[in-house]
Amino acid sequence: MATVLGTAAGTVGTSAAPPILDVRSLTTTIPTARGTLTVVDDVSFAVAQGECFGLVGESGSGKSMTLRSILGLIPPPGRVASGEVRHAGRDLVRLSQRELNRIRGREIAMIVQDAVSALNPVYRIGRQIGEPMLEHRIVKGARSARARAVALMAKVGIPAPEKRVDDFPHQFSGGMCQRVVIATALACDPGLLLADEPTTALDVTIQDQILKLLVALQRDLGLSLLLVTHDMGVVAQTCQRVAVMYAGQIVELVRTDALFRQPRHPYTAGLLNCVPRLDGPAVRLKPIPGAPPDLAAPPSGCRFHPRCPLATEACRSQRPELVEVAPGHFSRCIRHHEMPPDLWKRLDA
Ligand SMILES: Nc1ncnc2c1ncn2[C@@H]1O[C@H](COP(=O)(O)OP(=O)(O)OP(=O)(O)O)[C@@H](O)[C@H]1O
Ligand SMILES: [Mg+2]
Repeated sequence: MATVLGTAAGTVGTSAAPPILDVRSLTTTIPTARGTLTVVDDVSFAVAQGECFGLVGESGSGKSMTLRSILGLIPPPGRVASGEVRHAGRDLVRLSQRELNRIRGREIAMIVQDAVSALNPVYRIGRQIGEPMLEHRIVKGARSARARAVALMAKVGIPAPEKRVDDFPHQFSGGMCQRVVIATALACDPGLLLADEPTTALDVTIQDQILKLLVALQRDLGLSLLLVTHDMGVVAQTCQRVAVMYAGQIVELVRTDALFRQPRHPYTAGLLNCVPRLDGPAVRLKPIPGAPPDLAAPPSGCRFHPRCPLATEACRSQRPELVEVAPGHFSRCIRHHEMPPDLWKRLDA
């Protein structure tokens, strides 16, 4: 089903403006010896101009594959099998690698998962930040690139940038390296930033600083952000809307406040049950029992049914669609209206 979640009523902010990114029924497959895996399965969502949109889910749910599919970065023999990625009047899925090269880093930048360890240890920081500027010819010559690198380092909160621009990555702490990665992503002034777990490797204090930086950049530069995380706390702190992924599919999509107030999918409720609440009593947090399915042999019907306390025969036999259960609130659960607020607490007891 082509579920278009673009300028639907739930889009935060600019309901009149077209979204900066409109992903429609995106499906990505990887052939393996054990069969063809559908790692991104009919995924649809849209990011509004200036919005921070979150993609959240357990490890292996397809978050990174979704980001890679958007920019044509699926390693062969994997491929985008169907769907559209609309950006600035074009469908990125139909573009050649050459055409995509002109967009990557320039119009849409991506911070890959574990980007800090991808910094080149033998290149000075300034050179690494300057490289995309020279590649996309937004500056003339190394001297201008260096000057812009210094300005970007200041913008992302690196102290004494004019001194540190000639340092090497090993001379920076983890948090400062992540700031370098963000500066590199901003080098060509992209309108949209795809950030894959940009804070996961950092300790809690530094994580908080980096999230605040991303939110400030989003606000000050009018940047749109597609933020991947497995952490509901990060979603709460940064995202206006969020899509929850499970086994390659979006199972819930809604404004973040509504997601926390009233989740309409048992999987989301289970993820929220693992998040500590500052205003609640001290409780032992329980992960969702069981594990995500093997994509080579996904369960029949709803992919979450083997772990779901609400599962019925219909859940085992019918593949649920993502449907709008309230204005701007989409769920892939046929029992969304029967979800008790304490669904997982009952199991914990
Ligand atoms: N090269 C590959 N060959 C086969 N399967 C793959 C390959 N790369 C990824 N996968 C599978 O695709 C699925 C989605 O992976 P993806 O990296 O998108 O997950 P993720 O949600 O980003 O997880 P994490 O939180 O661990 O980063 C996983 O089940 C993974 O095992
Ligand atoms: Mg990932």
